[in-house]
Amino acid sequence: MVFLSSTWLILALYTLTTSAASVATIPQSAWTQLNSTVGGRLVRGIPYARPCFARVGPGVSGSKNGAACAVVQADYVNNLDLTAQFGTYINTQWETCQSTNEKCLLDYKNSTNPVPMEGVCSQGSIPDYGINVVNPSDVTAGFQFSKKWGIPVVVKNTGHDYKGHSGGPGTLAIWVGNIKGITHNPVFIPTGCPKSTTPKNGVTFGAGVVYNDLVNFADANKLTIPAGGDVSVGPAGGYPQGGGHGMLSNVFGLAADRVLEMEVVTPRGDHLIANECQNTDLFWAMRGGGGGTFGVVLKLTSLAFPATQVNAVFGTVDPTVPGNLLKFFQFMTDNALDYAKQGWGYYLYPSLPGIALANTILSPAEAKASMAPLMNLLMHNMTGSTWEMTLEPNYKTYYPKYVTRVPVPNGFAMTTASRLIPVSVFESASQRAQLAQAMTSIKDEAPVAIAFGVAPFYHGNNHDTSVSPAWYDSLWHLAVADTWNYDADTKDLTEIYSNLSTAIDPFRKLAPNSGAYLNEADVYEPDWQQSFWGENYPRLLSIKNKYDPDHLLDCWQCVGWLGPKDDRYKCYIHIEGY
Ligand SMILES: Cc1cc2nc3c(=O)[nH]c(=O)nc-3n(C[C@H](O)[C@H](O)[C@H](O)COP(=O)(O)OP(=O)(O)OC[C@H]3O[C@@H](n4cnc5c(N)ncnc54)[C@H](O)[C@@H]3O)c2cc1C
Ligand SMILES: *[C@@H]1O[C@H](CO)[C@@H](O)[C@H](O)[C@H]1NC(C)=O
Ligand SMILES: *[C@@H]1O[C@H](CO)[C@@H](O)[C@H](O)[C@H]1NC(C)=O
Ligand SMILES: *[C@@H]1O[C@H](CO)[C@@H](O)[C@H](O)[C@H]1NC(C)=O
Ligand SMILES: *[C@@H]1O[C@H](CO)[C@@H](O)[C@H](O)[C@H]1NC(C)=O
Repeated sequence: MVFLSSTWLILALYTLTTSAASVATIPQSAWTQLNSTVGGRLVRGIPYARPCFARVGPGVSGSKNGAACAVVQADYVNNLDLTAQFGTYINTQWETCQSTNEKCLLDYKNSTNPVPMEGVCSQGSIPDYGINVVNPSDVTAGFQFSKKWGIPVVVKNTGHDYKGHSGGPGTLAIWVGNIKGITHNPVFIPTGCPKSTTPKNGVTFGAGVVYNDLVNFADANKLTIPAGGDVSVGPAGGYPQGGGHGMLSNVFGLAADRVLEMEVVTPRGDHLIANECQNTDLFWAMRGGGGGTFGVVLKLTSLAFPATQVNAVFGTVDPTVPGNLLKFFQFMTDNALDYAKQGWGYYLYPSLPGIALANTILSPAEAKASMAPLMNLLMHNMTGSTWEMTLEPNYKTYYPKYVTRVPVPNGFAMTTASRLIPVSVFESASQRAQLAQAMTSIKDEAPVAIAFGVAPFYHGNNHDTSVSPAWYDSLWHLAVADTWNYDADTKDLTEIYSNLSTAIDPFRKLAPNSGAYLNEADVYEPDWQQSFWGENYPRLLSIKNKYDPDHLLDCWQCVGWLGPKDDRYKCYIHIEGY
């Protein structure tokens, strides 16, 4: 009797003092039950390079396998392959536990290098389990399991998130990557809207479709569907839900501006349609409020455009010729406002250095005339420059030649920081000069930098998204980044994060009332609510609380964030002041 009651007491105390259940405390029978509820589609999160390792840490499943390892080695930095797997992230730091340096990585510069494979393969921040979603009820089962057992739940699509939102140690993931399918409806009317609603050219796709699929679909159907800088990004996932820019977004708007409808399962358990006629609060919140926060999108309908020719430019500058860089950046800051008004979008690369520009609004003759001063500057006034201008027949031929020509890192670690540069900076000669100067010295501060001329200036503000209002008052989203290999340790990473914050600081000072792009921001962004959403934050928070009353979804610096001390963030590096 006495023995029994003290056992019960210990059990009761244990329950009271444990904030969240760990995967290990959930009985196997519960997982088996969940697996049967979701039709046998419960999967383990297995580190991508697992087959290359003889030694593994706790909880790692799978086995060493030479043939499977060879496949991983051959595909180690292949974006579309990385995106298709469950236990894999495009940027490897989110597979690792950064605070303890536990990982399961190869040398991305030479994937057959035996040194990393002699170590221990650890689970890191890869979810222990994932539900391979096919039906809305799979999502509901995930939320119910999380609520019952206290295990944190995350939403994973392609695994592109730069802030680690689509994974986490000891998590169960709702994995939407296999929800495919694309349809075109040239006279789309949002579900439940009056018949008198003006129909739109709509393309509907599953949550797991990637831009590569959409670019091909658009081409086959004589459409243009603007993409971002990498075709493995998810057009229904974090990209439109957090903003979504691309080289054509000056004219066509952010991906969030183009969403017409979403089919969503909320943590509260509703399976609903959100559009301009129903669940309008959720519709607004999920167009800019960030992924993994309000619910799980199963399907999304986006505005599409007729196929179009693209006036495209690629130029490079020789940085070793004294004065070249400053001259180039001064020219770009002086002309940025005119370029935006004429419908140009561009990626300006201080670290190449060079520029890629695109325009679908001007005729070829107008585009040539508009570009003549820049061409003259590069070809006749700056030795060592190159210049190329073509009229691409369609988006599909334009994309690889001008967008992914400078590839974004896939298959290794990369972290970013961002600042939106307001129109007002470009209207002031002294601030333009400061910006040009800062652009010239940025390569000494950050190994990678891009001024994305992608703010939806030409498109304008429809006041119906929840992205930071700063987006609609800006011309540039300026981003800096750094990359690293498998052998960087916690101390190196601490320095990299803090150096990147330092690199973006001059731009924060230049535009103190602006904001940052949440999908490509400093992981340790100061004043993040203001920075990502400005005046939209309080309304976003109330919508979050309405659709997720038990706070089942939480991610780092997302609307309603629990803060860095919550156990699920134990793999983030502890940075002073955070
Ligand atoms: C190589 C690379 C290139 C990039 N280029 C660009 C670019 O050009 N322009 C740009 O704007 N951004 C770009 N990004 C950033 C990109 O927009 C974000 O990483 C975005 O969050 C990716 O969304 P995802 O669904 O593909 O990725 P995931 O990592 O799978 O998901 C990202 C976030 O969305 C949530 N989420 C995913 N799917 C759903 C869903 N169905 N329902 C609810 N929540 C969901 C996740 O929980 C997570 O919070 C790039 C990123 C990388 C790594
Ligand atoms: C779930 O069930 C399926 C079908 O029985 C099985 O193949 C799979 O391995 C199970 N998943 C887990 C995580 O045990
Ligand atoms: C990669 O590593 C293997 C094994 O150490 C070595 O034989 C090979 O020369 C390396 N390749 C390169 C390009 O460094
Ligand atoms: C070349 O640069 C000089 C000085 O910066 C300027 O006066 C001149 O107009 C430029 N010429 C061209 C063709 O851009
Ligand atoms: C961080 O910046 C300092 C000062 O510029 C530099 O010495 C150091 O090498 C940088 N660290 C990393 C990891 O890049």
